[in-house]
Amino acid sequence: MSNGVNHPFSATKWSLLTETTYAAGGDCKKVLISNECFIQLPNYYMIKQKEKIDYGLKFFVEVLGAEDLHWGFFSEKKFPNGEWSLSSFKEAQREYTRHLLSYIPDSVHKILDVGCGIGTTSNILNKKGYDVTSLSCDWYQGEVLKKKHPHLRFVKSKFEKFREEKQYDLLLLSESAQYLDMKVAPRKAYELLIPSGYMLVCDYFRKMHDPYYKTCKVLEEFKRGMEERGFVLLEEEDITDYVTPTIDFAQFYYNRYALPSVELLGEYVKIQISTPIRFFSNILLRKKLKKLNYYLKEHTPEKFDSGLFRKKLVYLIQLWKKKEKRG
Ligand SMILES: C[S@@+](CC[C@H](N)C(=O)[O-])C[C@H]1O[C@@H](n2cnc3c(N)ncnc32)[C@H](O)[C@@H]1O
Repeated sequence: MSNGVNHPFSATKWSLLTETTYAAGGDCKKVLISNECFIQLPNYYMIKQKEKIDYGLKFFVEVLGAEDLHWGFFSEKKFPNGEWSLSSFKEAQREYTRHLLSYIPDSVHKILDVGCGIGTTSNILNKKGYDVTSLSCDWYQGEVLKKKHPHLRFVKSKFEKFREEKQYDLLLLSESAQYLDMKVAPRKAYELLIPSGYMLVCDYFRKMHDPYYKTCKVLEEFKRGMEERGFVLLEEEDITDYVTPTIDFAQFYYNRYALPSVELLGEYVKIQISTPIRFFSNILLRKKLKKLNYYLKEHTPEKFDSGLFRKKLVYLIQLWKKKEKRG
């Protein structure tokens, strides 16, 4: 047990500190015993944290070389000249950020970028002179951010568990609202904002309860959750048509490159493995292979259907304001 350093959390007794940024050297984890004492856990506890990686988003960074982890904004509502190029997609991502940030009210200075990805938007805000804190619970994204933008203040934590005294003028949720626990998030947002602070949300929402994109929030429930916690919706823009060219792009790439590559790999493996081994592996891995087949042939292609997406979801920018408490 060691004496505690000055940590920025007003931690209650016996709480568990998971925000590694504030752990010594940023590379270990501490269990707080009281505000003054903690136990430093060995590094193998980090293994668990390293598992908290969103591989879909990692694909964006490592394979597509994307700087942003959102869907982009196509001002002409289609791919330029109908050409499926990665550079057009990346330009659309930059356009999305420009458009979104135009909603930030003039009075804003302190911003919490909730679900900051690899920090591209935070960095733009920082360059514009805002006081930005970047927050994400993803270990891999945090490591990329720290390498690319070491000057940014990054905190690795779930938004729902994020604790600090500082209050913000605006919380930015660029495609991160869909991940949050609505039982906690609106209350947490309220706590973290100054009186009359803002929450700028850009995300896709389900129009009703439906298994399609089932992890996304249902719009009416999201709005109700925010209103009940004391927020008022100032502005809302439907940008679905400007965003969905990305789905067509994903469908094109998936059918043209991803699926044939996987099929080719499967064929190669089949040839390499002798018949008895193949026979037993098929039995042992039957369930997993069935699931994989479902994901490859049904689940993913269905997600890349922009017509179905438009029918069942809506992509919105929303500017919320915290209502002042009366009397
Ligand atoms: C689709 S990415 C968007 C990244 C970035 N905002 C952008 O627009 O490029 C979603 C982000 O939310 C983060 N995230 C997911 N759940 C979270 C949570 N509970 N608390 C904080 N961040 C979360 C992910 O790690 C990721 O950084």
